[in-house]
Amino acid sequence: MTEPHYLNNQLMIEDVSLSQLAKEVGTPCYVYSRSELERNYLAYRHALDAFDSQRHKVCFAVKANSNIGVLSVLANLGSGFDIVSIGELERVLLAGGDPSQIVFSGVAKLRNEIERALDVGIHCFNVESETELQRLASIAEEKNCIAPISIRVNPDVDAETHPYISTGLKENKFGINIDQALDIYLRAQQCSSIRIIGIDCHIGSQLTTTAPFIDALQRVLTLVDQLEANGITLEHIDVGGGLGVTYQQEQPPTPGDYVQQLMQVLGDRPQTLLMEPGRSIAANAGVLLTRVDTIKTSDDRHFAIVDAAMNDMIRPALYSAWMDIVPLQANSSAQSHEYDIVGPVCETGDFLGKQRTLAIAEGDLLSVNSAGAYGFVMSSNYNSRVRAAEVMVQGASYQIVRQRETLEDLVKGESIVS
Ligand code: LLP
Repeated sequence: MTEPHYLNNQLMIEDVSLSQLAKEVGTPCYVYSRSELERNYLAYRHALDAFDSQRHKVCFAVKANSNIGVLSVLANLGSGFDIVSIGELERVLLAGGDPSQIVFSGVAKLRNEIERALDVGIHCFNVESETELQRLASIAEEKNCIAPISIRVNPDVDAETHPYISTGLKENKFGINIDQALDIYLRAQQCSSIRIIGIDCHIGSQLTTTAPFIDALQRVLTLVDQLEANGITLEHIDVGGGLGVTYQQEQPPTPGDYVQQLMQVLGDRPQTLLMEPGRSIAANAGVLLTRVDTIKTSDDRHFAIVDAAMNDMIRPALYSAWMDIVPLQANSSAQSHEYDIVGPVCETGDFLGKQRTLAIAEGDLLSVNSAGAYGFVMSSNYNSRVRAAEVMVQGASYQIVRQRETLEDLVKGESIVS
């Protein structure tokens, strides 16, 4: 079993006891399962292979988890990558990713980022504005090369998810309004340093139904037909990422169901289907381990102050996200209470979970589940806290894939004023 599970009253990832691991590595600490990452990635690949093994690309959205250990696991399976910065590009290259399988998303790409991406020969720039198109065209011309592009269209559909992770509405900053996209394609067609190869959209994250995806795809296909009528034939259609996972009670479609529905809409169109999943590959392949430092009771409230905080995992504070929190082993001598699980950071918003019924005592270890996506990557040094270690489990062994930061790391590059 690859998801966290109990064996003899011990929470395990694969064949590793998390209590043992926490004792050896310390807390807070992110732990990932190699086989769960592989299983989640392969769920997409197998579903797509069932249709046509040649005509698809799964590009893991690096923003969900950019640890090079994680990226290397996926690169080994031949995954492509969706990046949004030069930092992510360098990480993919360090992890052994194939540049020709990289798509570059992001609302505004800087000159140095474009130059580097052209130099290494990425698969496609997902262009999000006319300014970017012109910038890309002129940099490619200077370099005497041709930039492959797709236009990210904003299809104006409601992803029905948290407003902060909704991206496909007119009011969002992302992409080019679908009504204006034809004009921009026609302009791109005039640029000798640009080669149009695709179209893309990404409407949001943590979607738990397929209807908004299908709605968006149908709008995109209408545009694909208009482009065709104007002599622009595309090689790929990129539907972005966004498939949700189960944090609590959600029942999102499986990648298999989702792919099948997309394929039904695509019919026998000749284009390659490109996908950019992040969360659905990484979230349930990782946990955040933390230790209960102090139990504090005031009037009618019980607080468990743990050693992980909003700087380690910001999703609850930022999106009011509910994340499952469980003990690494049952504590039969502790009384059960309803706890707010909070960190030591000086912010009222610093909580990992509220009103959780747990039987815990000081010193106990807890796991924040489904933390493999948008966990460590969003962590910070707020309150001058060092960032957590990251560990990859494989079978009965594990490897530290990022050392816990040290106090020296914390002030690296800073200096006192003389
Ligand atoms: N492609 C693009 C262009 C994106 O902007 C994103 C995510 C993805 C792919 C991957 O989406 P996924 O499959 O992971 O849903 N920090 C938030 C999520 C932000 C998502 C941003 N874009 C959270 O913790 O819920």
